[in-house]
Amino acid sequence: MVDRPRALVCGHPVAHSRSPLIHGHWLSVLGIDGSYEAVDVPPEGFPDFLRSLGRNGYVGGNITIPHKEAAFRLVDDADDAARRIGAVNTLWFEDGRLLGANTDWIGFAANLDEFAPGWDNAGTATVLGAGGAARGILYALAKRGFDDIRLVNRTLSRAEALAREFGSLGDIRITVHGWEEIGNALEGANLLVNTTSLGMEETGAAKPDLSSLAAGAVVNDIVYVPLETPLLKAASAAGFKTVDGLGMLLHQAVAGFEKWFGATPRVTEELRRLVIEDMERST
Ligand code: ATR
Repeated sequence: MVDRPRALVCGHPVAHSRSPLIHGHWLSVLGIDGSYEAVDVPPEGFPDFLRSLGRNGYVGGNITIPHKEAAFRLVDDADDAARRIGAVNTLWFEDGRLLGANTDWIGFAANLDEFAPGWDNAGTATVLGAGGAARGILYALAKRGFDDIRLVNRTLSRAEALAREFGSLGDIRITVHGWEEIGNALEGANLLVNTTSLGMEETGAAKPDLSSLAAGAVVNDIVYVPLETPLLKAASAAGFKTVDGLGMLLHQAVAGFEKWFGATPRVTEELRRLVIEDMERST
């Protein structure tokens, strides 16, 4: 390994990123002499920035909004998840080549494994939203053997395009629904995941009746600000198991750290608390 490896998170804006806190904590806990910094790069400068990453002394890093799709197009090679999702969030060098992976789907699955073990025992899931984030969730659900997915989105054509693209992955069968049909989409589902950027009450849709979800269903919001979103609050009040989105952020970071710093970090309650405290300070 290189002396004092340097990694980064690159985004625009990037000041809000919790990744330096997460990786900084792991570097300190594991006693590794390395660094992880946040670098703000506007879209027009991103291709040049990426091409000079190695020359500038970085061993790799994370890529965040709005550069994940551009990073996918610019890397020398990408893993299966990144190719399917069309976005890269983790970069590293191998034999001088810049490689990319998408670990968001790993973070999503690991978060549910931690807080709702058995979440993937039954094969029916409802996914709200059909944007970039939903792509990672569909990939994870296919990998974990889900076969009946109901995709709900305001813009039906976007959901249809995603259903066509991901419908051939694993055993999954995807049906699409507009917000007005959310009742049908929730019926008997064992897992409900929100990937839309907005809280449910802000979508203009009537508040969905969660009572038709399967008994014991798990409800997850990948949005983690606030930690308890309106959807999670409603699900909790209706007696369902809820999982917030913070664990996805923490778990997606593990694979990158391993690549850059050569050690496997742990997602602990202490780390979770540190990030929550940081979020509370900045609101
Ligand atoms: P991300 O990468 O976070 O998924 P995105 O690609 O912009 O971001 O997708 C945002 C998702 O939130 C989409 O599913 C979007 O619905 P549309 O495809 O209809 O745009 C959803 N979304 C955003 N604002 C919304 C609103 N006011 N009502 C309903 N859905 C909304």
